[in-house]
Amino acid sequence: MTSAAKQFPAAAIILGAGKGTRMKSKHPKVMHKVASLSMIGHVIKAVTQINADKAVVVVGPNMEMVEAEVAPHQTVIQHNQAGTGDAVKAALPLMKDFKQGTVLILFGDTPFIQPETLQSMISLREEGNAVVVLGFDADNPTGYGRLISNAEGKLTAIVEQKDASPEELKVNVCNSGVMAIDAEHLEELLLAIDNNNASGEYYLTDVVKLACDRDLECAVITTDEDQVMGVNSRANLAHAEKVWQEKRRRVAMDEGVTLIDPDTVFFAHDTVIGRDVVIGPNVFFGPKVRVADDVEIKAFSHLEGATVGTAAQVGPYARLRPGAELQEAAFVGNFVEVKNTVMGEGAKASHLTYLGDSEIGAGSNIGAGTITCNYDGFNKAKTILGENVFIGSNSALVAPVTIEKDAMVSAGSVITKDVSAESMAFARSPQKEKEGMATKFRELAKKKKEAAKAAQKKD
Ligand code: UD1
Ligand code: CA
Repeated sequence: MTSAAKQFPAAAIILGAGKGTRMKSKHPKVMHKVASLSMIGHVIKAVTQINADKAVVVVGPNMEMVEAEVAPHQTVIQHNQAGTGDAVKAALPLMKDFKQGTVLILFGDTPFIQPETLQSMISLREEGNAVVVLGFDADNPTGYGRLISNAEGKLTAIVEQKDASPEELKVNVCNSGVMAIDAEHLEELLLAIDNNNASGEYYLTDVVKLACDRDLECAVITTDEDQVMGVNSRANLAHAEKVWQEKRRRVAMDEGVTLIDPDTVFFAHDTVIGRDVVIGPNVFFGPKVRVADDVEIKAFSHLEGATVGTAAQVGPYARLRPGAELQEAAFVGNFVEVKNTVMGEGAKASHLTYLGDSEIGAGSNIGAGTITCNYDGFNKAKTILGENVFIGSNSALVAPVTIEKDAMVSAGSVITKDVSAESMAFARSPQKEKEGMATKFRELAKKKKEAAKAAQKKD
């Protein structure tokens, strides 16, 4: 997605101090992930895409995890969770230098808000509205604040479920929680909020009525529910993941990717995929994966932090871990794990192999069962292979070790020393042969078995 050009000054306050009790988790709710990115990370991404002039995240006490996740953005601690209005108030000291323009209020547990929507809210706010609220038509409005409008269709109040009259509960247009407020009036409106309501909390939503009382204009923008779904439980989280993945799969197919069974392919928030890529069933993308054109990723492969070059082939059952880089037409087959390793053009590791902390030269062939021994329990070391090296099956390459171009390693070798170009290395015990010994062995074994049987009968 391209970052939209912001026309007017805008700042964002993102609320994430809530404990998220219903998640039943030791982690803050906003740290739970969708598409391999924390929910607060998704919101920060949207804010970054509109080039907001500043973003402040409101966290609870002991939420260093969230502080680290949103860095370098500023954070402020809300000490008692006394409601959404109180949370925004906690951020006021950091907004002292932002008195003109739009302050967006976002929720850390509402991850799918789109930059285009924020942009529209800012524009509508700039048209002279003191408050712009993002609403949606809820399938099931239970639990959401309702947007109350007057006869002229002007927004006059937001009423929380708990405080709503039976008439108000019939309203289907709900509050997403996302708001755009005139920076000039932010402090005044927030300080006027009281906690005189069914929850005894300071409701941010009261700013609408307070603005109307002051003859300031309020407006509503609506969007689809998928963009503003809030996550309060693990079931909500799973639903959010499902909705996100379905959307992403459609985008992938629209952009020229074949998904043999779309429902079983899982993307991350930042997966980049080229054209004419074919992805088999049950493939999982963790964060930071880039796949070039004409690649085939076969069933049951797991990729994370990997770069896959043009026309490379992966899987079935391959695992690409962070730092795996497959150059053009490289091949990684079944039960092969690749970590922090560059595989040069056309290099192949077709089966049952671990390549870690290594460089595999172009055109090299890694036999089945090859293991780079990159770790001695304390330190990691590198394995370097030149071009067109051939590693025989079931070899252990004990790093640090270099095998120069066009060399060969015989099957079953344990390579502990460097191998020079064009040489063939043998590092296994020599083969012996004893004539007739197989026959002798069988006869002896047969006699032993018969003797044991006879002894059993006597007992
Ligand atoms: C809120 C809205 C409701 C809206 C709904 C949409 C209010 C009063 N109600 O209700 O109108 O329909 O969201 O999902 O605003 N938070 C803090 N500090 C607090 C309380 C909350 O930081 O003291 C944060 C939470 O971490 C969360 C967000 O604010 O990210 C929303 O809080 P939550 O308690 O989930 O509000 P809802 O009851 O869902
Ligand atoms: Ca909520």
